[in-house]
Amino acid sequence: MSRAFALISTALLVACGDPVHTDAVDALGPEAHGVEPGPLHRPGQPCLVCHGGKGPGNLEFSVAGTVYKYADSNEPLANAIVKLVDQSGPSTIVGTNCVGNFFVQRTDFDPVFPLWTRIQLGSLDIEMSTPVFGKGSCAHCHQDSPTESSVGRIYVAPPGAELPGGSCP
Ligand code: HEC
Ligand code: HEC
Repeated sequence: MSRAFALISTALLVACGDPVHTDAVDALGPEAHGVEPGPLHRPGQPCLVCHGGKGPGNLEFSVAGTVYKYADSNEPLANAIVKLVDQSGPSTIVGTNCVGNFFVQRTDFDPVFPLWTRIQLGSLDIEMSTPVFGKGSCAHCHQDSPTESSVGRIYVAPPGAELPGGSCP
């Protein structure tokens, strides 16, 4: 994309509405090379910035995130079950895909926060000991590396534990 076009399209977006939202979307950068927008894109990013109802993602999610095997590596945890429980009823269950992403459409589950979460794979069963209040993007708090504003990625296994492989076809 030429710089002139980028500037014009940014100006158009800003003109259309919410500059804070536009900045938040822009801050996440372009798509990774070779990855189409879809279920496998942008692992580790706060999905609801773009899929929270204001676009540019068309699908609106209520809860979404990415699960990894270990605290200190980017290896995704595929085929895990994410259980979400709020006060409105039985748990909602969603699987992680080959990049560790999972997502729930708001039309399927519109949680009443707080929300309790746990991740299961075989005999592994890891829960977040405190519930989530109000934030549907797990990456809002779980960024890849721990910092003052982040607890680090969501992971299930201690370092050195062997977990089944799994990679995208
Ligand atoms: C920076 C903005 C942005 C972020 C962050 C983002 N997406 Fe998207 N997503 C898009 C856009 C744009 C599209 C293409 C338009 C569409 O199909 O909704 C898309 C498409 C999708 C689709 C296909 C929807 C369909 O209709 O088939 C899925 C599924 C999806 N994203 C999942 C995710 C998940 C899961 C995350 C977080 C790990 C995420 N996205 C993060 C912008 C984003
Ligand atoms: C408001 C901040 C926040 C949000 C949003 C959040 N978490 Fe957490 N999460 C934490 C904190 C803090 C801990 C560490 C203490 C604990 O377990 O409660 C944690 C720990 C966890 C753990 C335990 C082990 C680990 O991987 O660190 C899991 C599993 C987990 N979170 C899953 C999730 C899932 C799934 C979501 C999205 C649905 C989510 N979290 C959203 C703050 C958050």
